[in-house]
Amino acid sequence: MVNPNRKFFVGGNFKMNGTVDMINELINHLNNAKLDGKTEVVVAPPSIYLLQVKEKLTPPAQVAAQNCYTADSGAYTGEISPSQLQDANIEWVILGHSERRSMFGDTDKFVADKTKAAIANGLKVILCVGESQEEREKDITMEVNERQLEAVTKTIEEKDWEHIVLAYEPVWAIGTGLVASPQQAQEVHADLRQWLGQRVSQKVADSIRIIYGGSVNGKNCKELARQPDIDGFLVGGASLKPEFVDICKSAD
Ligand code: PGA
Repeated sequence: MVNPNRKFFVGGNFKMNGTVDMINELINHLNNAKLDGKTEVVVAPPSIYLLQVKEKLTPPAQVAAQNCYTADSGAYTGEISPSQLQDANIEWVILGHSERRSMFGDTDKFVADKTKAAIANGLKVILCVGESQEEREKDITMEVNERQLEAVTKTIEEKDWEHIVLAYEPVWAIGTGLVASPQQAQEVHADLRQWLGQRVSQKVADSIRIIYGGSVNGKNCKELARQPDIDGFLVGGASLKPEFVDICKSAD
């Protein structure tokens, strides 16, 4: 049941995959699907391919970077700044992905600071949160998600939330083939929305898109999309396959 007040959103996170040719092929496939714009579609290629995708992708589909830094410019070898993304007309950035948190040391505070800097530079943010398998087993799922969100809440203002899509990505479901059940995902999405209502504002809770990520594919997307608090998906592995188009149409 798609909420008419929240436009369905599907992001494709290519992660560190692809070549010039393969990415051209994926973008051609997406362009040929002639998506009607009812769902907001955003693709996130590795940074070296951002401009290539920007040039080839047919609007209204948009482009996201997979990360950015906090500063505008300077001696930060290997980083991309939010103002450079804006300069290159890249509309979105993914921040707080669990792979960045677990492998590259992105702390809750760092993710919050990056979120603030991105929004200050006119970017929109796909902000990822999610608990590990161990944390779910310990029954601290919401505690972990709230802690990750609280850092952002403390750092940005209420008006900034309109530039954020919140991605709930349980770490145990990412790249594992172990998708959260529609009920499991719905439960956390509803809790996150309620938490935002209490901690930020009812307006933000009602309007923010909360999307699910973790082993979403062409087969399981429809039932997930029917949950009242699931407003779309962040897709990894399946975004590199033709079925990504089916996921983009899952709310139809
Ligand atoms: P997956 O990745 O779809 O391959 O599980 C999702 C993500 O990491 O965003």
